[in-house]
Amino acid sequence: MFTCKKSKTLQFITNTSHSIHSQITSHPRISLFIFSLFLVQIIILCSPSPPPPPVSLPPPVDDKCKEGQVYVYELPTMFNSDLVGTCEDLDPWHWQCGVATNGGYGMTATELAGIIPESLVQVWHRTNQFSSEIIFHNRILKHKCRTMEPEAATAFYIPFYAGLAVGKYLFTDSTNEERDFHAVQLIKWVQNQSYWRRSNGSDHVLVLGRITWDFRRLTDPEKRWGSTFLNMPEMQTVTRLTIERAPGDYQDVGIPYPTGFHPRSITDIQAWQSFVRTYNRTSLFTFVGAAREDVGDDIRGLLLQTCRNESVSGTCRVVDCAVTPCANGSSAIMESLLGSEFCLQPRGDSFTRRSVFDCMIAGAVPVLFWTRTMYDQYEWYLPEEPESYSVFIDHDDVSAGKKSIKGVLEKYSKEAVKEMRERVIEIIPKIVYSDEGSNNSGMKDAFEVAVDGVMRRFKTERDQRRQESDVNVPGN
Ligand SMILES: *[C@@H]1O[C@H](CO)[C@@H](O)[C@H](O)[C@H]1NC(C)=O
Ligand SMILES: *[C@@H]1O[C@H](CO)[C@@H](O)[C@H](O)[C@H]1NC(C)=O
Ligand SMILES: *[C@@H]1O[C@H](CO)[C@@H](O)[C@H](O)[C@H]1NC(C)=O
Ligand SMILES: *[C@@H]1O[C@H](CO)[C@@H](O)[C@H](O)[C@H]1NC(C)=O
Ligand SMILES: *[C@@H]1O[C@H](CO)[C@@H](O)[C@H](O)[C@H]1NC(C)=O
Ligand SMILES: *[C@@H]1O[C@H](CO)[C@@H](O)[C@H](O)[C@H]1NC(C)=O
Repeated sequence: MFTCKKSKTLQFITNTSHSIHSQITSHPRISLFIFSLFLVQIIILCSPSPPPPPVSLPPPVDDKCKEGQVYVYELPTMFNSDLVGTCEDLDPWHWQCGVATNGGYGMTATELAGIIPESLVQVWHRTNQFSSEIIFHNRILKHKCRTMEPEAATAFYIPFYAGLAVGKYLFTDSTNEERDFHAVQLIKWVQNQSYWRRSNGSDHVLVLGRITWDFRRLTDPEKRWGSTFLNMPEMQTVTRLTIERAPGDYQDVGIPYPTGFHPRSITDIQAWQSFVRTYNRTSLFTFVGAAREDVGDDIRGLLLQTCRNESVSGTCRVVDCAVTPCANGSSAIMESLLGSEFCLQPRGDSFTRRSVFDCMIAGAVPVLFWTRTMYDQYEWYLPEEPESYSVFIDHDDVSAGKKSIKGVLEKYSKEAVKEMRERVIEIIPKIVYSDEGSNNSGMKDAFEVAVDGVMRRFKTERDQRRQESDVNVPGN
């Protein structure tokens, strides 16, 4: 049994979704002090906003930003910077400490010195996995296609930190009103903007730092979890970039979890690629995670035990997160991922895991047990043939004892493994968030891929709307 607090912390951090609601029953209450802050925020919110700008069609696209330009709303600070707050008020275990430092990248991970090349220690950070709303905000403000003129914009970026807004209520007995407070106010604010009214939000985009399920609260009071932001009718037209999307919801777009690697240049990327390509991997596979006794059919527990058994011969490297604090990264995790050809990536309460990205950046091949962990999630980022860069073993076959992990992985020849690892290494530049000032000479990082994708999507939709309205004009 792993009953220590750290394992619980990790469980809550790495997980969520429909099934978590029933497990959340008793947690420390957040102080009344925080609630009183909202009263202050209501007052801020109710102050008058400037008159809406005039409406006009976007001008012809210019050469540099072919797909269009992005306008970033200046929101009242209650929707973003006020939410970053202090280390203490964000959640019961303070794991978000430092979430906003270095533009969302966090402190330098000096603990990796001696494991990774010295020249790259500066580009590895203790990045919080839920910091993408801060990272994107910071980067979009400096984007070359940002415009200060809303009438020139193809896309409207809403820098609302929705994940941080709900994050502090997830583990408390907070009311529905508390959980939805910021979301409700945000909708009111944005509905008051003329460019929102022009499109009903369909050319608007925001980033959710947490998984989509944290914003889709169910009506069953027994399964109360998160806010109801994405259930709100006004949100149905808005594109959301999120680390775990709801399959089948066109407005949800999957973006990579932020990892600790933030290269400054193509030189950093190439140095890292060459480092992980040539690393002497002495184990076949690794498992980084904790058992989950509270979940029936606990595949994590099974994989942990399998790995522990195989660690005797050196075939598997185990990092038990009930013992090692995994939440903020550690040198033990890095060494295990670098030292193994494959990494096991079971689902938790939700399907996705930051660890999938940690694994690939370390140049190891992810082994998946649910397709929704990756294949249905990150289509802007991953090659079409999943078998080229990953291994899939159905979780039912593992649970039923029909397939042995070692048996499946040992069947791959040295050459086949090398080839898969090479595909993984090719993907790295696209799934990292590079340092803001970097010049990757045409290598698009995860942020740039997302911005391009959103611009393309909005431009296509706008062109379609124009065609439709042409068709609808009588006599045309
Ligand atoms: C909406 O705009 C009007 C006029 O600018 C302003 O009086 C009102 O307070 C605004 N409402 C909100 C919720 O921002
Ligand atoms: C926005 O939504 C309202 C209410 O559904 C509708 O009346 C209006 O035509 C919509 N406007 C646009 C531009 O789609
Ligand atoms: C890789 O590590 C193994 C085990 O420690 C060792 O025997 C082998 O010589 C190493 N290979 C290289 C190329 O360093
Ligand atoms: C691990 O080894 C023990 C002892 O040999 C065995 O009883 C157990 O079934 C093994 N567990 C797994 C998951 O392989
Ligand atoms: C990671 O988190 C633990 C517990 O929250 C903390 O004690 C430790 O100092 C952190 N380590 C790093 C490298 O930030
Ligand atoms: C980025 O680097 C490339 C090649 O090294 C260079 O041609 C280009 O001008 C640089 N761009 C910027 C913005 O510095």
